[in-house]
Amino acid sequence: MTNYVKIFDTTLRDGEQSPGATMTSAEKLEVAHNLARLGVDVIEAGFPAASPDDLEAVRRIALEVGNPPEGQPEAKVPTIAGLARANKTDIDKAWEAVQGARNPRIHTFLATSAIHMKHKLKMDPEEVVQRVSEMVAYAKTLCADVEFSPEDAGRSDPEFLYVVLGEAIKSGATTLNIPDTVGYTTPDEFYKLIDGIIRNTPGMHDGITVSVHCHDDLGLATANTLAGIQAGARQAEVTINGIGERAGNTSLEEVVMALKTRHPVFGLETGIETQQLSRISKLVSNYTGIVVQPNKAIVGSNAFAHEAGIHQDGMLKHQTTYEIMRPEDVGVSQTNLVLGKHSGRHALRNRLAEMGHSLDEVELDKAFARFKELADRKKVITDLDLEALIADEFYRPRDVYLLNGMQVSCGTMGMPTATVRLRGPDGVVHTVAAIGTGPVDATYKAIDSIVNVPCTLLEFNIHAITEGIDALGEVTVRIQSENGKSTMDAQSEVSYSRVYGGHGADTDIIVASAKAYINALNKLIIAQTEGTEKVKNDFGVMLG
Ligand code: KIV
Ligand code: ZN
Repeated sequence: MTNYVKIFDTTLRDGEQSPGATMTSAEKLEVAHNLARLGVDVIEAGFPAASPDDLEAVRRIALEVGNPPEGQPEAKVPTIAGLARANKTDIDKAWEAVQGARNPRIHTFLATSAIHMKHKLKMDPEEVVQRVSEMVAYAKTLCADVEFSPEDAGRSDPEFLYVVLGEAIKSGATTLNIPDTVGYTTPDEFYKLIDGIIRNTPGMHDGITVSVHCHDDLGLATANTLAGIQAGARQAEVTINGIGERAGNTSLEEVVMALKTRHPVFGLETGIETQQLSRISKLVSNYTGIVVQPNKAIVGSNAFAHEAGIHQDGMLKHQTTYEIMRPEDVGVSQTNLVLGKHSGRHALRNRLAEMGHSLDEVELDKAFARFKELADRKKVITDLDLEALIADEFYRPRDVYLLNGMQVSCGTMGMPTATVRLRGPDGVVHTVAAIGTGPVDATYKAIDSIVNVPCTLLEFNIHAITEGIDALGEVTVRIQSENGKSTMDAQSEVSYSRVYGGHGADTDIIVASAKAYINALNKLIIAQTEGTEKVKNDFGVMLG
């Protein structure tokens, strides 16, 4: 058995299904480019049947990320997968979306647990077996690389799984993915499930990759994934920051760093360039508006912080006393003083390149202007500041509304007042003043009266990127459209509306707050005017 574990990233599909994780097509493309640079083996780029927008986003990723210029070694080109339910329409759409990739994959699934077959599918086990056989065979007529997942495998009868998976192999599937869809199993149970599948599935051979796909409802996703790998699975389905349905999916960074840090235990390799983990975590957090909890393993802001005196003392004596991984190995830079007021364009370009950002001339001009502006207000500019500045300048949706200027007055005397100037989609500049309970409230009221898109502010987070009074403030917000509420599923009558995240950074925290809110509103407006919201709602939560 190979000692290589393929990393199948589903941030853009299962991850994007988490409330608020909605990304624009441009953001998805950027994430896909970064996943390719990170070295993932498979990018599940989306669920093409969910909406024409999803199909188009997957198609672009297949063409641009999955089909790089000639000369790039085959081993470095990620497979691009599209998800499909086990029906011809979905499979056709998935194929339409991924066929432009050098290495396309159709990933089809059907539930196999008694609960799902009875209540959701209303199908007999025999019908399920028949459908899997027909649809895997159909997918195989289109695409050489077919993956099959028995949804809710974690709660399925193992004996029945052997039959279904045996049929999938017979019909041409080369990857069998075993999802613990509702995050129900324990590591011991999941080990036995994978071991049983490898030993007992008819037709199982070395050319078949067994894959694991775990959800984190009991906080066991990483443990279960590692248990599955120890039992012989050689593909792990994961997401950046562990985002995903409900409590999320297994996090990529945890599995990869566990395999690397405990190499003597596992003896397994991945193709991931771990120094990029911190950066891509930030990118996904900024695009989705989903903040990474400070104590999150590997990528949380406290993951390498040592607070207790006894720990600090130990660290000064030797790094290994309290650190099992080096921060540098996951891209948390220890470099503090990077650039200052007198640093030139060349130095900025070099530093950004070292950090993994390759900008063209126009982008570099913009970044340099922002850098100079920041250097006037902040003496020392660190890598973290540069990351925030790049995120603020480039990782944001198309500007429907753009902040053109603002002035706020607040304090203990008088009403907090904000005057906000926005450039609208028609190029017209609007200026409005509003009062509020505080400076952020006043600012948001002024923005609302210009933009006029009803929404609810669900979450507002603010934090300082670096230490010191001149630190950049970073704000992340999540908003929910009030117009977009729609009945998503006639059977369950669940009403659901998409949540949009926004991010902004500035040395002035009220300006950062305004930028974050405008970013989120821009996403909401793009989704509503370009018609993604309703269609996505109709499909979005049918998958785990
Ligand atoms: O969790 C799950 O079952 C899934 C499948 C569609 C693979 O996401
Ligand atoms: Zn899932």
